Amino acid sequence: MNQEKIREKFPMLKNDIIFLDSGALVQKPIQVINAINDFYTKYSISNRTSDSELGIIVGQKIDKTRKMTADLLECSEEEIMFNSGTTEGLNYCAQLFSQLINEDDEILISKFNHSSNMIPWIEIAKEKKAKIIFSDDIINDINSKTKIIAYAQKNNSFNIQINAKELFEKAKKYYAFIINDAAQAISHEKVSAKYCDAIAFSSNKFFGPTGLGILYVSKNILAKVSAKKYGGGAIDYINKIGNWKAKNSIVKHEPGTLNLAGIFGFYEAIIFFNSLDKKWMKEYLFDLSSYAYDKLSSLDNVKIVSCKGDSIILFEIKNSTSQDVASYLGHNNVYVRSGLFCAQYLNHIIENSLVRISLHIYNNKQDIDKLIEVLKRGGDFLDFI
Ligand SMILES: Cc1ncc(COP(=O)(O)O)c(C=O)c1O
Repeated sequence: MNQEKIREKFPMLKNDIIFLDSGALVQKPIQVINAINDFYTKYSISNRTSDSELGIIVGQKIDKTRKMTADLLECSEEEIMFNSGTTEGLNYCAQLFSQLINEDDEILISKFNHSSNMIPWIEIAKEKKAKIIFSDDIINDINSKTKIIAYAQKNNSFNIQINAKELFEKAKKYYAFIINDAAQAISHEKVSAKYCDAIAFSSNKFFGPTGLGILYVSKNILAKVSAKKYGGGAIDYINKIGNWKAKNSIVKHEPGTLNLAGIFGFYEAIIFFNSLDKKWMKEYLFDLSSYAYDKLSSLDNVKIVSCKGDSIILFEIKNSTSQDVASYLGHNNVYVRSGLFCAQYLNHIIENSLVRISLHIYNNKQDIDKLIEVLKRGGDFLDFI
C-alpha cells in the first residue's frame, strides 16, 4: 500500500483541513468508521444479553479483540482490560499498584510525563506516604527504594529515547515495577509487555475510536491485587448480608457495559495497523518530519526545539505567543496544538510555551507546504516575515 492509498482511506482528510495534530487524536480509516456504524445498525445488542444470537456475536467480538490486543502487546488476553482511555487506565493502574506500595517507597516519574501519568501517582504517594521523585534520567535514578517507575515510551512533547530493555533489567534488579504510558508509542513503535509491568494506551491514538482504552497489567501483579472498580458483570455472587465475591477472570476489572461500538472499531484498527509495513512507516515519517523541519527552519524567527526527524515538532515564533500562532493556524484550517500539551510539568523545563505539530503516515508534503504558506501569510501579525 503506498502513501496515497493510505491517505485515501481517511475520510476526514478529504475535508478542507490540514491536520497536523495526531499527537492529540489519530484519524480513523474508513474500515474503523464502518465497523462502528455496523455495530449500531446490525449488532446493537449488549454482550450481557448472551442468550441470543447477536449477543453471542458481540461477546465473541470482545474476546477476539482482547486476543488481538494481547498479540499486539505480546502478552496473554487474561492481562488485557478495556476501559475509556489512557487516562482512566493510568488512574486504575495507580489504584492497583498502590496495593503494593509501602511508606517511604519511591515513585519515580519522568519529568516529561503527561499529567495523566503524574497526578494519579502523586495522589497515591500522599495516601501511602510514599515519595515522588521527578526524574530526567529514570534509568540512572532507580535505586533500592524505587517501587514504581512511571514513564512514557514516547512522549507527546520531546523525543526522549529510553532503552526499554535496559530500563527493565535495572528495574528488576531492584524489584521495581514499570508503568509504560504508551499513548504516543502505540501507533509508531513496537510496544511490548516483555519490558514492563503495565501498559496503558487509548484506541483513539491507534486509528481507533475515542472513548476506549486498553490497560495491560502482568499476571504476576494481577494475582497480588484486588479489583478497584465494582459493579455489574464483574461479580460472582452477593449474599444476604452483602458479602460478595468478584469473578475469577479479567472481567472483574471491567464492571458495567463496555464501549461495544468502540471495540468493534478498535478491532478494525488493529487489522489496519497490522497491515502497515512498519519499516516503510518509520522511514516515511522520518523523511516527512525532516522535510517539515527544514521548511520551518527556513522561516525567519522560527525556533525549533525538537530534533530533525522527530514526528512531533515543537517550535516557537519570536515575539508571538504559541497560542496566537495556533489560533491563527486553527482559524485557517491548519490544526496544531499550543501550550504544554497536558504535560504541565514542562513548565519547569522550557522557557516559553510552544507550538506543536505532530505528523502521521496520512500526512504528506503538501500538508507541510500549506502550513508554511499559511504561516507566511500570517507574517503581518505574526512577527516573522
Ligand atoms: C503521552 C500521553 N499520555 C496520556 C495521554 C492521555 O490520553 P487520553 O486523553 O486518551 O486519556 C495522552 C494524550 O494526549 C498522551 O499523549
